[in-house]
Amino acid sequence: MTEASALAIILAAGKGTRMKSALPKVMHRLAGATLLAHVLGATKAAGIERICVVVAPGMDEVGASASAVHSKLEVFVQDRQLGTGDAVKAAHQALENFSGHVLVLYGDTPLLRSETLEAARGALHAGADLVVLGFETDEPTGYGRLLLDERGGLAAIREEKDASDEERGLTLCNSGIMGFRAAHTLLDLLGRIGKDNAKGEFYLTDAVALARGDRLEARMIKANAEEVIGVNSRAELAAAEEAMQRRLRTAFMAEGVTMTAPDTVFFSHDTRIGRDVVIEPHVMIGAKVVIEDGATIRAFSHIEGAHIGPGASVGPFARLRPGAALAKDAHVGNFVEIKQSEIGAGAKVNHLTYIGDASVGARANVGAGTITCNYDGFAKHKTVIGEDAFIGSNTSLVAPVKIGEGAYIGSGSVITKDVAPDALALSRAPQEEREGWAAKLRKRLTRGRK
Ligand code: UD1
Ligand code: CA
Repeated sequence: MTEASALAIILAAGKGTRMKSALPKVMHRLAGATLLAHVLGATKAAGIERICVVVAPGMDEVGASASAVHSKLEVFVQDRQLGTGDAVKAAHQALENFSGHVLVLYGDTPLLRSETLEAARGALHAGADLVVLGFETDEPTGYGRLLLDERGGLAAIREEKDASDEERGLTLCNSGIMGFRAAHTLLDLLGRIGKDNAKGEFYLTDAVALARGDRLEARMIKANAEEVIGVNSRAELAAAEEAMQRRLRTAFMAEGVTMTAPDTVFFSHDTRIGRDVVIEPHVMIGAKVVIEDGATIRAFSHIEGAHIGPGASVGPFARLRPGAALAKDAHVGNFVEIKQSEIGAGAKVNHLTYIGDASVGARANVGAGTITCNYDGFAKHKTVIGEDAFIGSNTSLVAPVKIGEGAYIGSGSVITKDVAPDALALSRAPQEEREGWAAKLRKRLTRGRK
């Protein structure tokens, strides 16, 4: 098969009024990535070489953030939001000297999979001039309906506002994803789309009836309804998040991750997890997390930007912040927060502790209530704890400070100076004892009473 090249145009200039947001709609996030980044990801994964995004004036941040996902992105500005047909026209320069397939996608359909885009291209390879991804739904309200001819071919797309009662009863809808075998066909159709409709907009969807009038072949292929959900409101954003999380959970379980209550575990689009990892209920995993083989994440832990080594154990109720790196078999227990710190192999930080900007050596034991005082109000400073060191409970380590290998820190100490390897350091008020003092006090205070 000769592979025609392909170009995608992703429309993202809509105001997204129903989101009630200061942020452009496509900048809202799903599993940590913007709606647009998800669409871009599927487009790239489908092997589409040229990608154009259409934004509105003033949406520079949309173009910039999308360029971070795809460096060769071509950004076009649609001056006024006159409809989806007009939006595609904004990218006409990209189409003019292009001869391959053109796919038009909407920036607000983040669950789209690359396989589905490939299926659409397959229809174009097979000779269709135009292809529309349709889907069946019990709740078609808001979507354009696909009108079929008596032989089951695609005849037209009718927008909800222009539909008759009978047409509104149809459950086969337009996902918004369309493909054109030749860029010049699309340009020609765009030139003839009018705005004589209920919204007074240039509907891209009118291209179907025009193509049919030209005796071109318009084909419909059915997509999974969940995959083409359009996000127009916060409620739809939440529904899409749920679907995305379900997809991530299913994929991780298929790769050998155990979850006792998968519905309560949340992942990021970029989470990486090895085999035989166990994740207990109610765990939140944010951006840039890697969990290696055999690690255990116990209930109610919150993890972002962390690397968890093989066999390590985290939680319950632990918080790992960006830059936390746990080596093999390290233990981080309950009510412990770790930020920008390495925890060495087999080291234990088990209870009620804050470790920030530190390195904890292999096998070191950090006692309950230890705090690295890493911030002086102006700058952050580093704490280094050597291998096999033992930090007694309720110690404050005032950074910058180094605890030598194998050293001991007495409980309750405030350590402000470096400690030599194998030494004992303690800084606390010496204990005093007054014999019989309590008995005397009691006697004095109860004098005169019965
Ligand atoms: C559109 C389709 C409808 C389909 C539905 C699927 C049209 C006319 N209707 O309706 O058939 O069922 O999507 O979700 O295409 N946009 C621009 N510039 C504009 C207008 C829109 O860039 O001038 C962008 C939006 O940012 C959005 C996309 O195009 O990403 C779709 O626009 P939207 O207003 O959400 O269309 P729907 O009413 O959902
Ligand atoms: Ca929409």
